[in-house]
Amino acid sequence: MIETFRSVVRFKPIELDRVKRRLSGVATVDDLRAIARRRLPRGVFDYIDGGAEDERSMARNVGAFGRIEFRPRVLRDVSRVDPSTELFGRRLAFPLILAPTGFTRIAHSQGELAVARAAQRAGIPYSLSTVSTRSIEEVAAVSDGPKWFQVYTWRDRGLVRELVERSAAAGYEALWLTVDTAVLGRRERDVRRGFTLPPKIGLETIFDGAFHPGWTLDFLRAEPITFSNVVDKGVDDGRTAVSLAGQVQSQFDPSLSWDDVEWLRSIWDGPIVLKGIQTVADAKQAVASGVAGIALSNHGGRQLDDAPTPIELVEPVAQEVGGQIAIICDGGIRRGADIVKAIALGADACSAGRAYLYALGAAGERGVDHMLGIMHDGVVRTMALSGCRTIDEIDRSLVTWR
Ligand SMILES: Cc1cc2nc3c(=O)[nH]c(=O)nc-3n(C[C@H](O)[C@H](O)[C@H](O)COP(=O)(O)O)c2cc1C
Repeated sequence: MIETFRSVVRFKPIELDRVKRRLSGVATVDDLRAIARRRLPRGVFDYIDGGAEDERSMARNVGAFGRIEFRPRVLRDVSRVDPSTELFGRRLAFPLILAPTGFTRIAHSQGELAVARAAQRAGIPYSLSTVSTRSIEEVAAVSDGPKWFQVYTWRDRGLVRELVERSAAAGYEALWLTVDTAVLGRRERDVRRGFTLPPKIGLETIFDGAFHPGWTLDFLRAEPITFSNVVDKGVDDGRTAVSLAGQVQSQFDPSLSWDDVEWLRSIWDGPIVLKGIQTVADAKQAVASGVAGIALSNHGGRQLDDAPTPIELVEPVAQEVGGQIAIICDGGIRRGADIVKAIALGADACSAGRAYLYALGAAGERGVDHMLGIMHDGVVRTMALSGCRTIDEIDRSLVTWR
């Protein structure tokens, strides 16, 4: 019996590196989310994880991918699979862009710098938000990889112009103009907690922080978080705690219209992607407006609840405007297979926000590397299992709605 026992027992060597140990059991983005949930204070986790109102847009963004079934082809010699693709004249290692997220340093003190470096290593673009906690120049200094800048239109258009000019000077290659945030969606988890950015240090926060010592030490040791792009520009720069809703209401311009798209084109030579297109009609108008791309997006379910689900919009939009404008599917991407499904329905690429925020909260920069490895390998594996050797071979015949 002892002999049998000996022959089957294998003790793994103890991993001394704590981050490696934490990541060793991580197989999915959901696993990273579970670790982030344990490590981050509840208010911080909810800011990242939450959506608007009943969170149905958010749930559908993810759930809709489960209604798509593959029609895999076999016997196709998939000994070599190449998931790379071209977008705006750039080769991406696989069709994913890291979407812009505000206040990224809330997840980890390295914030935007960590994510930009990881994106460069993975060979895909990183997008910096207007309300980032590292500046346009700080991010450019750590990453030579492709970078996009996301524009929110402040009421002060001079400030917007300045941010756009700084992005051009720092080598950013494309702009997102976010068009779904005329006012802020009601994220009710944040309302209940009275969540502010940066988090107010009250009794509740101290209590919560004590239960999450890793995050708390990291937060307290790092320099204070600000909206780095607009420090000393006469607008809220994050040095005093504000509710996100208050900030958006006082600073962002709800009068944003198609005229502003034209104005943005007049001050930026590179590609512009309208982020937050939610109907075929607006996709057609985007083509008419002369922009290079659209992101089908409901802001990760954080704005209008019961909004159209991006993956469900891809096909109708692609039927009308495919080939005339780049189509990016934004929202709910948790696996490489999701990316392949979106491409099959007519998207040119996908973008993801929470996937890397969970990874950052779970294990910092190495967490983001790990997540991007999972996504990349997932795309390659799905392509191999479904008989596609290149992104061009992924077509509409590969999937069906259940
Ligand atoms: C915490 C958080 C902050 C975000 N901040 C911004 C932002 O500053 N600008 C923007 O255009 N979109 C922002 N988004 C939306 C993302 O760019 C993207 O549309 C969304 O995360 C996609 O859904 P996913 O999280 O399911 O991938 C944010 C999303 C999250 C989760």
